[in-house]
Amino acid sequence: MNSPQNEVYRHHYKITVSDRRQMNQHKSCVLWLTGLSAAGKSTIANEVEKRLFERKVSAYVLDGDNVRHGLNRDLGFSPEDRKENIRRIGEVAKLFVDAGLFTIAAFISPYREDREMVRDMFAANEFIEVYVKCDVAECERRDPKGLYKRARAKEIKEFTGISAPYEVSSSPEIMLETDKQSIEESVQTIMDYLEKNQYIDCTVDV
Ligand code: ADX
Repeated sequence: MNSPQNEVYRHHYKITVSDRRQMNQHKSCVLWLTGLSAAGKSTIANEVEKRLFERKVSAYVLDGDNVRHGLNRDLGFSPEDRKENIRRIGEVAKLFVDAGLFTIAAFISPYREDREMVRDMFAANEFIEVYVKCDVAECERRDPKGLYKRARAKEIKEFTGISAPYEVSSSPEIMLETDKQSIEESVQTIMDYLEKNQYIDCTVDV
């Protein structure tokens, strides 16, 4: 059987990602924040976006809680649905990176294989995995949405850290420990990485 892709051809754009990066005077890439619910992913993502904005770097945050209200509203939390959630976000991030944006994705993305699937969509230096590490006991203590409590009461099934797994990456580009560091320290760690590796404040040779 012919898949629909066989009859769909790619158009080549006149303006390339290099042109956009030159115009923006900064590179584009994806910062992929992974970790338990309440680990601090969204807070850090938003602070990093603010810091980039102040430096005139165009950035955009993609966040699990928001994307699941729109694009991925048809998906739940089974391993298959989480994989599809991450695959779609990966495709969106790819478009954003091509559009010249710093894309900051904040998703639990608990399965190593799914994160690797997204990594493989990008060139080597375009994907920066940030493991937002936080002990599950601390996440449960924070419990800003009351979800851990509901998961313990078995009102929510397949809850990451309680009744569904989180698979730690062996070699993320950046590791943050939000149960030991302040948000400010975590944000600074990311900004230092971006500067040191010449993602920002650099001559753009793309
Ligand atoms: S992911 O596992 O597919 O990457 P995603 O980051 O999009 O998850 O969404 C996680 C958010 O959904 C959590 O921050 C939490 O608010 C909410 N949520 C609801 N049910 C669950 C569940 N069973 N496991 C994890 N998070 C859940």
